[in-house]
Amino acid sequence: MTVSALAARPLPAQRREDRGLPWIGQIFEYQKDPIGLYRRHWEHYGPVAPSTMLGKRTAMLLGPDACGEALVNRDKAFANNPAWSQLVGPFFHGGLMLIDFDEHHAHRRIMQEAFTRPRLAGYTRRLHPAIEQGMAGWQAGREFPAHWRLKQLTLDIAADLFMGGARNTSAAEMQRVNRAFIACVQAAAGIVRADVPLTRWGRAYRGRKVLESFLRGYLPAKRAEATDDIFSVLCHIETDDGERFADDDVVNHMIFLMMAAHDTSTITTSTILQYLGQHPAWQERCRAEALALGPAPEMADLESLVALDLVMREALRLRAPVPILVRQAVKDTVVQGVRIPADTFCTLGIQFTHLMEEYWTNPMVFDPERFAAGRREDRSHRFAWMPFGGGVHKCIGLYFAGLEVKAIMHRLLREYHWSVDPGYVPPLDHHSLPFPKDGQPIVLVRN
Ligand code: HEM
Repeated sequence: MTVSALAARPLPAQRREDRGLPWIGQIFEYQKDPIGLYRRHWEHYGPVAPSTMLGKRTAMLLGPDACGEALVNRDKAFANNPAWSQLVGPFFHGGLMLIDFDEHHAHRRIMQEAFTRPRLAGYTRRLHPAIEQGMAGWQAGREFPAHWRLKQLTLDIAADLFMGGARNTSAAEMQRVNRAFIACVQAAAGIVRADVPLTRWGRAYRGRKVLESFLRGYLPAKRAEATDDIFSVLCHIETDDGERFADDDVVNHMIFLMMAAHDTSTITTSTILQYLGQHPAWQERCRAEALALGPAPEMADLESLVALDLVMREALRLRAPVPILVRQAVKDTVVQGVRIPADTFCTLGIQFTHLMEEYWTNPMVFDPERFAAGRREDRSHRFAWMPFGGGVHKCIGLYFAGLEVKAIMHRLLREYHWSVDPGYVPPLDHHSLPFPKDGQPIVLVRN
């Protein structure tokens, strides 16, 4: 044991009132009010708090110092796979986020080739027609369910950008694939964690099979011809040393990438819509910038949308699409002077950190200028703002996500204006990633 481990304090014992239900622990409390739960623990225990979830001894890592230590992972004590696979189940195995250490490093080096600037510029060109087509059927109105429509839109975009339009696939087959994909994503919230019919996990097992056979069916064609969709790109990229993905890797990475890209981008755009609907002056500022560009801006043009960029960062702070990250200690380690024994499951409070008064002025208030030059509150600590995580597993799609969100908003701002009741508070579902259960109705009007 190192000197710092010897000097470290043990993880504090849980107070009786923090234990939650037998075995289930604090899951229901988390689903009801995650920030309230984390704040209470921060106030009582500090940056490393004890918890229990699904019978597992858990440590909550709260605030930028504790989260940062786990993300930087200096002594390689924290692993992703044993932690994330407990949450999302076996349905995303082989995905980049679910592999660790040397294997992860090797795969990430190859995957990086799919996210170079020239590739991103190519994806951006494909985005515009996909968005135009996806929005074509939108009916403006007083109860426009913004979240549901955006969710469908990002799925449609993924079908084109990830699969290359899944050419020769009928609409019914695409629906089946979408349903399979949604079944996998929803597995995270399953309480029965086995292949039992009619449960979330049961549906996810079948969903994974559908996705695998769908992607395998396309593989030979994708290997044969290089096109600019992500599926084809994964089949063809290689590092300078000639390393490439095998067929199984392509399938695993595709399934994970679609999951990683889908709900996160939907949540970000629908959060932006909510706040711009409640803050018309910001909406006008963003619209003026969008109108100054042409109808199909290139990547560099989208990057010049200053106001929209500030708004996007603020939306990611106020509603982090991935509100907690998870890790499992694979050996004894120390975080913020507290001993974390091997096998401890850890949750990293990303959303909680984004709302800490210690780092943000009036943290609950929508104030995009806090990210502007001169204020840069996100620089109050290296890990004060971490919607994309940090360390070696930091989101590989973060620039792509920014481009997609901005391309969607660019078109929306040019074609519509909208409003949201200033007092509206979305009823968020916290079973997996946070989304407004009411579909977030807005008043949408064509320009
Ligand atoms: C606003 C949108 C997004 C948010 C907030 C987001 C958030 C995150 C976060 C927090 C992580 C770190 C997970 C961890 O450390 O355990 C992550 C990882 C990842 N994200 Fe994203 N993501 C977004 C969009 C995307 C998109 C569009 C893609 C792909 C096109 C993507 C692909 C990935 C991948 C592959 C990983 C795993 C990286 C690794 O383990 O090396 N994400 N994302």
